[in-house]
Amino acid sequence: MFDLIVKGGTLPDGLVADIGIRGDKIAAVEGLAGAEAGQVIDATGDLVCPPFVDPHFHMDATLSYGQPRVNASGTLLEGIALWGELKAIATIDEMKARALEYCDWAVSMGLLAIRSHVDTCDPDLKGVQALLDVRETVKEYIDLQLVAFPQDGLYRDPNALEQTLRALDMGVDVVGGIPHFERTMDEGSWSITNLCKIAADRGLPVDMHCDETDDPMSRHIETLAYETQRLGLNGRVAASHLTSMHSMDNYYVSKLLPLIAEAGINAIPNPLINIVLQGRHDTFPKRRGLTRVKEMQAHGITVGWGQDCVLDPWYSLGTADMLDVAFMGLHVAQMTHPDEMRRCFDMVTNANARIMGLQGYGLEPGCTASLVVLDAGNAIEALRLRPDRLAVVSRGKVVARQTRNDSRLSLPGRPETVRRRHRAG
Ligand code: FE2
Repeated sequence: MFDLIVKGGTLPDGLVADIGIRGDKIAAVEGLAGAEAGQVIDATGDLVCPPFVDPHFHMDATLSYGQPRVNASGTLLEGIALWGELKAIATIDEMKARALEYCDWAVSMGLLAIRSHVDTCDPDLKGVQALLDVRETVKEYIDLQLVAFPQDGLYRDPNALEQTLRALDMGVDVVGGIPHFERTMDEGSWSITNLCKIAADRGLPVDMHCDETDDPMSRHIETLAYETQRLGLNGRVAASHLTSMHSMDNYYVSKLLPLIAEAGINAIPNPLINIVLQGRHDTFPKRRGLTRVKEMQAHGITVGWGQDCVLDPWYSLGTADMLDVAFMGLHVAQMTHPDEMRRCFDMVTNANARIMGLQGYGLEPGCTASLVVLDAGNAIEALRLRPDRLAVVSRGKVVARQTRNDSRLSLPGRPETVRRRHRAG
Protein backbone atom coordinates (compact mmCIF):
# COMPACT_ATOMS: atom_id res chain seq x y z
CA MET A 1 0.00 0.00 0.00
CA PHE A 2 1.43 3.35 -1.07
CA ASP A 3 0.28 6.88 -0.34
CA LEU A 4 0.85 7.90 -3.95
CA ILE A 5 1.78 6.10 -7.17
CA VAL A 6 3.01 7.97 -10.23
CA LYS A 7 2.14 5.47 -12.91
CA GLY A 8 3.88 4.62 -16.16
CA GLY A 9 6.13 7.64 -16.54
CA THR A 10 9.36 7.74 -18.54
CA LEU A 11 12.38 8.65 -16.42
CA PRO A 12 15.17 10.85 -17.86
CA ASP A 13 17.32 7.74 -18.51
CA GLY A 14 14.51 6.24 -20.64
CA LEU A 15 13.32 3.67 -18.09
CA VAL A 16 9.52 3.34 -17.94
CA ALA A 17 8.43 2.69 -14.35
CA ASP A 18 5.83 3.26 -11.67
CA ILE A 19 7.02 5.28 -8.68
CA GLY A 20 5.53 4.29 -5.34
CA ILE A 21 5.66 6.86 -2.55
CA ARG A 22 5.16 6.37 1.18
CA GLY A 23 5.19 9.46 3.37
CA ASP A 24 7.91 11.78 2.09
CA LYS A 25 10.08 9.04 0.57
CA ILE A 26 10.19 7.10 -2.67
CA ALA A 27 9.52 3.49 -1.67
CA ALA A 28 9.66 1.70 -5.05
CA VAL A 29 10.61 2.35 -8.67
CA GLU A 30 9.40 -0.62 -10.70
CA GLY A 31 6.26 -2.13 -12.20
CA LEU A 32 3.60 -1.79 -9.51
CA ALA A 33 0.62 -3.37 -11.31
CA GLY A 34 -2.08 -4.22 -8.81
CA ALA A 35 -0.54 -2.17 -6.01
CA GLU A 36 -2.91 0.01 -4.04
CA ALA A 37 -2.41 3.66 -3.31
CA GLY A 38 -4.28 6.53 -1.71
CA GLN A 39 -3.73 8.57 -4.86
CA VAL A 40 -2.62 7.73 -8.39
CA ILE A 41 -1.19 10.10 -11.02
CA ASP A 42 -1.30 8.61 -14.51
CA ALA A 43 1.98 9.66 -16.17
CA THR A 44 1.78 7.19 -19.06
CA GLY A 45 3.85 8.54 -21.95
CA ASP A 46 5.02 11.54 -19.92
CA LEU A 47 8.47 12.43 -18.64
CA VAL A 48 8.94 12.10 -14.88
CA CYS A 49 12.06 13.73 -13.46
CA PRO A 50 13.38 14.86 -10.12
CA PRO A 51 12.61 18.53 -9.35
CA PHE A 52 14.38 21.33 -11.13
CA VAL A 53 17.10 23.06 -9.12
CA ASP A 54 18.40 26.61 -9.50
CA PRO A 55 21.81 27.16 -7.86
CA HIS A 56 22.04 30.90 -8.61
CA PHE A 57 19.27 33.43 -8.04
CA HIS A 58 18.60 36.86 -6.49
CA MET A 59 15.30 36.59 -4.66
CA ASP A 60 15.60 39.96 -2.90
CA ALA A 61 15.49 41.73 -6.28
CA THR A 62 13.08 39.51 -8.19
CA LEU A 63 9.80 40.79 -9.68
CA SER A 64 10.89 44.40 -9.23
CA TYR A 65 11.30 45.22 -12.92
CA GLY A 66 10.85 48.94 -13.62
CA GLN A 67 11.23 50.00 -9.99
CA PRO A 68 12.22 52.80 -9.76
CA ARG A 69 13.18 52.75 -13.47
CA VAL A 70 14.47 50.33 -16.10
CA ASN A 71 18.12 49.59 -16.90
CA ALA A 72 18.69 51.82 -19.95
CA SER A 73 22.18 50.64 -20.89
CA GLY A 74 21.47 46.96 -20.18
CA THR A 75 24.82 46.58 -18.42
CA LEU A 76 25.76 44.83 -15.19
CA LEU A 77 27.07 48.07 -13.74
CA GLU A 78 23.87 50.06 -14.36
CA GLY A 79 21.95 47.12 -12.91
CA ILE A 80 24.02 47.31 -9.71
CA ALA A 81 23.45 51.10 -9.53
CA LEU A 82 19.72 50.66 -10.14
CA TRP A 83 19.48 47.98 -7.46
CA GLY A 84 21.20 50.46 -5.12
CA GLU A 85 18.35 52.92 -5.74
CA LEU A 86 15.70 50.26 -5.22
CA LYS A 87 17.12 48.68 -2.06
CA ALA A 88 17.24 52.12 -0.43
CA ILE A 89 13.46 52.45 -0.74
CA ALA A 90 12.22 48.84 -0.67
CA THR A 91 10.62 47.56 2.52
CA ILE A 92 11.01 44.13 4.09
CA ASP A 93 7.33 43.39 3.47
CA GLU A 94 7.63 44.29 -0.22
CA MET A 95 10.68 42.05 -0.63
CA LYS A 96 8.90 39.17 1.12
CA ALA A 97 5.79 39.55 -1.02
CA ARG A 98 7.82 39.56 -4.24
CA ALA A 99 9.94 36.59 -3.14
CA LEU A 100 6.89 34.56 -2.08
CA GLU A 101 5.17 35.25 -5.38
CA TYR A 102 8.31 34.05 -7.15
CA CYS A 103 8.29 30.87 -5.03
CA ASP A 104 4.71 30.22 -6.21
CA TRP A 105 5.90 30.54 -9.80
CA ALA A 106 8.81 28.20 -9.02
CA VAL A 107 6.55 25.49 -7.58
CA SER A 108 4.27 25.68 -10.62
CA MET A 109 7.35 25.03 -12.79
CA GLY A 110 8.61 22.14 -10.68
CA LEU A 111 11.52 24.21 -9.35
CA LEU A 112 11.83 23.03 -5.75
CA ALA A 113 15.39 23.97 -4.71
CA ILE A 114 16.87 27.44 -5.08
CA ARG A 115 20.12 29.00 -3.93
CA SER A 116 19.54 32.75 -3.66
CA HIS A 117 22.14 35.40 -3.05
CA VAL A 118 21.00 38.12 -0.65
CA ASP A 119 22.59 41.56 -0.56
CA THR A 120 24.44 42.27 2.69
CA CYS A 121 25.39 45.85 1.81
CA ASP A 122 22.16 47.38 3.08
CA PRO A 123 22.83 48.69 6.61
CA ASP A 124 19.47 47.38 7.84
CA LEU A 125 19.96 43.97 6.17
CA LYS A 126 16.36 44.21 4.95
CA GLY A 127 16.87 41.58 2.26
CA VAL A 128 18.43 39.19 4.76
CA GLN A 129 15.53 39.60 7.17
CA ALA A 130 12.99 39.19 4.37
CA LEU A 131 14.57 36.08 2.83
CA LEU A 132 15.19 34.37 6.18
CA ASP A 133 11.43 34.71 6.77
CA VAL A 134 10.70 33.43 3.26
CA ARG A 135 13.04 30.46 3.78
CA GLU A 136 11.03 29.56 6.88
CA THR A 137 7.67 30.05 5.13
CA VAL A 138 8.50 27.81 2.14
CA LYS A 139 10.61 25.21 3.97
CA GLU A 140 7.95 22.48 3.68
CA TYR A 141 8.10 22.54 -0.12
CA ILE A 142 11.20 24.47 -1.35
CA ASP A 143 14.82 23.97 -0.31
CA LEU A 144 15.94 27.59 -0.17
CA GLN A 145 19.63 28.26 0.52
CA LEU A 146 20.81 31.83 1.10
CA VAL A 147 24.21 33.26 0.16
CA ALA A 148 25.57 36.31 2.04
CA PHE A 149 26.44 38.51 -0.91
CA PRO A 150 28.35 41.80 -0.41
CA GLN A 151 26.94 43.26 -3.64
CA ASP A 152 28.82 46.56 -3.43
CA GLY A 153 32.20 44.94 -2.72
CA LEU A 154 33.69 43.60 0.50
CA TYR A 155 36.25 46.45 0.55
CA ARG A 156 34.50 48.92 -1.73
CA ASP A 157 31.66 49.23 0.80
CA PRO A 158 33.20 50.08 4.18
CA ASN A 159 30.45 48.25 6.10
CA ALA A 160 30.22 45.16 3.94
CA LEU A 161 32.48 42.86 5.98
CA GLU A 162 30.75 43.55 9.29
CA GLN A 163 27.29 43.23 7.73
CA THR A 164 28.20 40.02 5.88
CA LEU A 165 29.36 38.49 9.16
CA ARG A 166 26.13 39.67 10.80
CA ALA A 167 24.09 38.01 8.03
CA LEU A 168 25.96 34.74 8.59
CA ASP A 169 25.31 35.04 12.34
CA MET A 170 21.60 35.45 11.54
CA GLY A 171 21.60 32.08 9.75
CA VAL A 172 22.52 32.73 6.12
CA ASP A 173 23.91 29.45 4.73
CA VAL A 174 26.69 30.27 2.26
CA VAL A 175 29.52 32.84 1.93
CA GLY A 176 29.38 34.96 -1.25
CA GLY A 177 31.58 37.60 -2.86
CA ILE A 178 32.16 39.74 -5.93
CA PRO A 179 35.93 40.10 -6.46
CA HIS A 180 35.69 41.65 -9.95
CA PHE A 181 33.69 44.58 -8.53
CA GLU A 182 36.28 45.53 -5.89
CA ARG A 183 38.35 48.65 -6.69
CA THR A 184 41.53 46.84 -7.74
CA MET A 185 42.65 43.36 -8.73
CA ASP A 186 44.50 43.19 -5.40
CA GLU A 187 41.41 44.01 -3.37
CA GLY A 188 39.52 41.43 -5.41
CA SER A 189 42.10 38.80 -4.44
CA TRP A 190 42.08 39.87 -0.79
CA SER A 191 38.29 39.63 -0.72
CA ILE A 192 38.52 36.01 -1.89
CA THR A 193 41.16 35.16 0.72
CA ASN A 194 39.17 36.80 3.49
CA LEU A 195 35.81 35.32 2.52
CA CYS A 196 37.20 31.81 2.03
CA LYS A 197 38.82 32.02 5.47
CA ILE A 198 35.46 33.04 6.98
CA ALA A 199 33.82 30.04 5.27
CA ALA A 200 36.56 27.67 6.46
CA ASP A 201 36.33 28.94 10.04
CA ARG A 202 32.54 28.56 10.08
CA GLY A 203 32.37 25.30 8.13
CA LEU A 204 30.25 26.91 5.39
CA PRO A 205 30.21 26.56 1.60
CA VAL A 206 31.36 29.37 -0.70
CA ASP A 207 29.55 30.66 -3.79
CA MET A 208 31.11 33.71 -5.41
CA HIS A 209 30.16 35.85 -8.34
CA CYS A 210 33.51 35.49 -10.06
CA ASP A 211 34.88 37.31 -13.12
CA GLU A 212 31.47 38.43 -14.42
CA THR A 213 33.14 40.69 -16.95
CA ASP A 214 34.40 40.67 -20.54
CA ASP A 215 37.89 41.61 -19.33
CA PRO A 216 40.16 38.64 -20.15
CA MET A 217 42.56 39.80 -17.44
CA SER A 218 39.92 39.24 -14.75
CA ARG A 219 41.50 36.07 -13.33
CA HIS A 220 40.01 35.87 -9.84
CA ILE A 221 39.00 32.26 -10.46
CA GLU A 222 42.72 31.43 -10.22
CA THR A 223 42.84 32.89 -6.70
CA LEU A 224 39.59 31.16 -5.76
CA ALA A 225 41.06 27.81 -6.86
CA TYR A 226 44.23 28.55 -4.88
CA GLU A 227 42.40 29.48 -1.67
CA THR A 228 40.06 26.50 -2.02
CA GLN A 229 43.08 24.20 -2.07
CA ARG A 230 44.98 26.04 0.66
CA LEU A 231 42.04 26.00 3.07
CA GLY A 232 40.82 22.49 2.22
CA LEU A 233 37.48 23.73 0.91
CA ASN A 234 37.52 21.27 -2.00
CA GLY A 235 34.01 20.38 -3.16
CA ARG A 236 32.39 23.18 -1.11
CA VAL A 237 33.09 26.08 -3.48
CA ALA A 238 31.09 27.31 -6.46
CA ALA A 239 32.18 29.96 -8.94
CA SER A 240 29.27 31.74 -10.59
CA HIS A 241 29.36 33.34 -14.05
CA LEU A 242 33.09 33.07 -15.00
CA THR A 243 32.33 35.06 -18.15
CA SER A 244 35.85 36.48 -18.51
CA MET A 245 36.96 32.94 -19.39
CA HIS A 246 35.11 33.42 -22.69
CA SER A 247 37.67 36.07 -23.66
CA MET A 248 40.80 34.63 -22.04
CA ASP A 249 43.88 33.53 -23.90
CA ASN A 250 43.58 29.83 -24.81
CA TYR A 251 47.00 28.96 -23.41
CA TYR A 252 46.12 30.46 -20.05
CA VAL A 253 42.80 28.56 -20.00
CA SER A 254 44.68 25.32 -20.66
CA LYS A 255 46.51 25.92 -17.38
CA LEU A 256 43.46 27.23 -15.53
CA LEU A 257 40.96 24.41 -16.13
CA PRO A 258 43.06 21.71 -14.42
CA LEU A 259 43.47 24.05 -11.43
CA ILE A 260 39.69 24.47 -11.14
CA ALA A 261 39.20 20.71 -11.48
CA GLU A 262 41.92 19.96 -8.90
CA ALA A 263 40.22 22.27 -6.38
CA GLY A 264 36.84 20.61 -6.98
CA ILE A 265 35.23 23.97 -7.73
CA ASN A 266 31.76 23.81 -9.27
CA ALA A 267 30.84 26.29 -12.00
CA ILE A 268 27.50 28.04 -12.45
CA PRO A 269 27.08 29.90 -15.75
CA ASN A 270 23.89 31.95 -16.09
CA PRO A 271 23.13 32.02 -19.81
CA LEU A 272 19.88 33.99 -19.90
CA ILE A 273 21.36 36.98 -18.19
CA ASN A 274 24.93 36.92 -19.44
CA ILE A 275 23.88 36.71 -23.08
CA VAL A 276 22.23 40.11 -22.58
CA LEU A 277 24.63 41.74 -20.08
CA GLN A 278 27.98 40.88 -21.63
CA GLY A 279 29.48 42.20 -24.84
CA ARG A 280 27.79 45.57 -24.36
CA HIS A 281 31.04 47.40 -25.03
CA ASP A 282 31.79 45.39 -28.16
CA THR A 283 31.03 46.62 -31.64
CA PHE A 284 31.28 43.61 -33.97
CA PRO A 285 31.97 40.79 -33.56
CA LYS A 286 30.14 40.77 -30.22
CA ARG A 287 31.23 38.25 -27.63
CA ARG A 288 28.61 35.85 -26.25
CA GLY A 289 29.17 36.36 -22.55
CA LEU A 290 29.16 32.71 -21.61
CA THR A 291 31.98 30.80 -19.98
CA ARG A 292 33.53 27.65 -21.50
CA VAL A 293 30.94 25.05 -20.51
CA LYS A 294 31.84 21.97 -22.55
CA GLU A 295 35.54 22.59 -22.00
CA MET A 296 35.10 22.64 -18.22
CA GLN A 297 32.97 19.50 -18.34
CA ALA A 298 35.67 17.78 -20.40
CA HIS A 299 38.01 18.43 -17.45
CA GLY A 300 35.57 16.77 -15.03
CA ILE A 301 34.33 20.04 -13.53
CA THR A 302 30.69 19.97 -12.41
CA VAL A 303 28.85 22.69 -14.31
CA GLY A 304 25.21 23.63 -13.66
CA TRP A 305 22.94 26.21 -15.26
CA GLY A 306 21.73 29.07 -13.05
CA GLN A 307 18.83 31.44 -13.68
CA ASP A 308 20.24 34.46 -11.80
CA CYS A 309 17.41 36.92 -12.39
CA VAL A 310 13.72 37.21 -13.23
CA LEU A 311 12.18 40.65 -13.83
CA ASP A 312 14.72 42.74 -11.95
CA PRO A 313 17.33 45.48 -12.56
CA TRP A 314 19.51 43.10 -14.58
CA TYR A 315 17.02 41.03 -16.58
CA SER A 316 13.68 42.13 -17.96
CA LEU A 317 12.14 38.72 -18.67
CA GLY A 318 12.03 35.26 -17.05
CA THR A 319 9.46 32.73 -15.84
CA ALA A 320 11.08 30.57 -13.12
CA ASP A 321 11.42 27.83 -15.74
CA MET A 322 14.82 26.12 -15.56
CA LEU A 323 14.10 24.64 -19.01
CA ASP A 324 14.25 28.19 -20.42
CA VAL A 325 17.67 28.51 -18.79
CA ALA A 326 18.91 25.20 -20.18
CA PHE A 327 17.44 26.03 -23.61
CA MET A 328 19.40 29.29 -23.80
CA GLY A 329 22.55 27.61 -22.46
CA LEU A 330 22.26 24.82 -25.00
CA HIS A 331 22.17 27.37 -27.83
CA VAL A 332 24.89 29.72 -26.63
CA ALA A 333 27.27 26.88 -25.71
CA GLN A 334 26.32 25.01 -28.92
CA MET A 335 25.46 21.83 -27.01
CA THR A 336 23.37 20.35 -29.81
CA HIS A 337 24.55 16.72 -29.94
CA PRO A 338 21.90 14.46 -28.34
CA ASP A 339 24.35 13.55 -25.55
CA GLU A 340 25.00 17.25 -24.93
CA MET A 341 21.28 18.10 -24.92
CA ARG A 342 20.64 15.35 -22.37
CA ARG A 343 23.53 16.79 -20.35
CA CYS A 344 21.86 20.21 -20.43
CA PHE A 345 18.77 18.63 -18.87
CA ASP A 346 20.98 16.88 -16.31
CA MET A 347 22.60 20.25 -15.48
CA VAL A 348 19.29 21.80 -14.30
CA THR A 349 18.48 18.69 -12.25
CA ASN A 350 21.27 16.41 -10.98
CA ALA A 351 24.31 18.67 -11.48
CA ASN A 352 22.61 21.63 -9.82
CA ALA A 353 21.52 19.38 -6.93
CA ARG A 354 25.14 18.29 -6.43
CA ILE A 355 26.29 21.91 -6.47
CA MET A 356 23.73 22.78 -3.78
CA GLY A 357 24.67 19.66 -1.79
CA LEU A 358 21.05 18.46 -1.67
CA GLN A 359 20.56 15.26 0.33
CA GLY A 360 18.17 12.53 -0.85
CA TYR A 361 17.79 14.03 -4.33
CA GLY A 362 16.80 11.71 -7.18
CA LEU A 363 14.30 9.10 -8.25
CA GLU A 364 15.71 6.02 -6.53
CA PRO A 365 14.08 4.17 -3.63
CA GLY A 366 14.95 5.99 -0.42
CA CYS A 367 15.17 9.40 -2.06
CA THR A 368 12.95 12.29 -1.03
CA ALA A 369 9.63 11.95 -2.85
CA SER A 370 9.87 15.09 -4.95
CA LEU A 371 9.31 14.92 -8.70
CA VAL A 372 7.79 16.58 -11.73
CA VAL A 373 5.54 15.13 -14.47
CA LEU A 374 6.06 16.95 -17.76
CA ASP A 375 4.00 16.94 -20.97
CA ALA A 376 6.97 15.60 -22.95
CA GLY A 377 8.24 12.17 -23.88
CA ASN A 378 11.88 12.57 -22.92
CA ALA A 379 14.50 15.05 -21.73
CA ILE A 380 15.35 16.38 -25.19
CA GLU A 381 11.68 16.92 -26.01
CA ALA A 382 11.29 18.73 -22.68
CA LEU A 383 14.07 21.12 -23.72
CA ARG A 384 12.46 21.68 -27.11
CA LEU A 385 8.94 22.25 -25.78
CA ARG A 386 9.51 23.66 -22.31
CA PRO A 387 6.12 22.05 -21.69
CA ASP A 388 3.40 22.16 -19.04
CA ARG A 389 4.24 20.67 -15.68
CA LEU A 390 1.28 18.30 -15.33
CA ALA A 391 2.03 17.49 -11.70
CA VAL A 392 4.59 18.60 -9.14
CA VAL A 393 5.18 16.51 -6.02
CA SER A 394 7.19 17.86 -3.10
CA ARG A 395 8.07 15.50 -0.24
CA GLY A 396 5.21 13.17 -1.03
CA LYS A 397 2.56 15.89 -1.44
CA VAL A 398 1.08 17.04 -4.74
CA VAL A 399 1.78 20.78 -4.70
CA ALA A 400 0.81 21.74 -8.27
CA ARG A 401 -1.33 20.30 -11.07
CA GLN A 402 -1.85 21.51 -14.62
CA THR A 403 -4.37 20.22 -17.15
CA ARG A 404 -3.07 19.03 -20.47
CA ASN A 405 -4.34 21.66 -22.83
CA ASP A 406 -4.46 20.73 -26.50
CA SER A 407 -5.23 23.34 -29.15
CA ARG A 408 -8.38 22.97 -31.27
CA LEU A 409 -8.00 23.62 -34.97
CA SER A 410 -10.60 24.74 -37.52
CA LEU A 411 -8.93 23.80 -40.78
CA PRO A 412 -10.46 21.90 -43.73
CA GLY A 413 -9.07 18.38 -43.99
CA ARG A 414 -6.90 18.73 -40.89
CA PRO A 415 -7.21 17.10 -37.44
CA GLU A 416 -9.41 18.86 -34.88
CA THR A 417 -6.74 19.05 -32.24
CA VAL A 418 -3.00 19.52 -32.14
CA ARG A 419 -0.92 18.61 -29.14
CA ARG A 420 -0.04 21.73 -27.26
CA ARG A 421 3.37 23.03 -28.31
CA HIS A 422 3.55 20.31 -30.95
CA ARG A 423 4.58 17.35 -28.91
CA ALA A 424 5.68 14.55 -31.21
CA GLY A 425 3.90 11.18 -31.36
FE1 FE2 B 1 24.07 36.77 -9.67
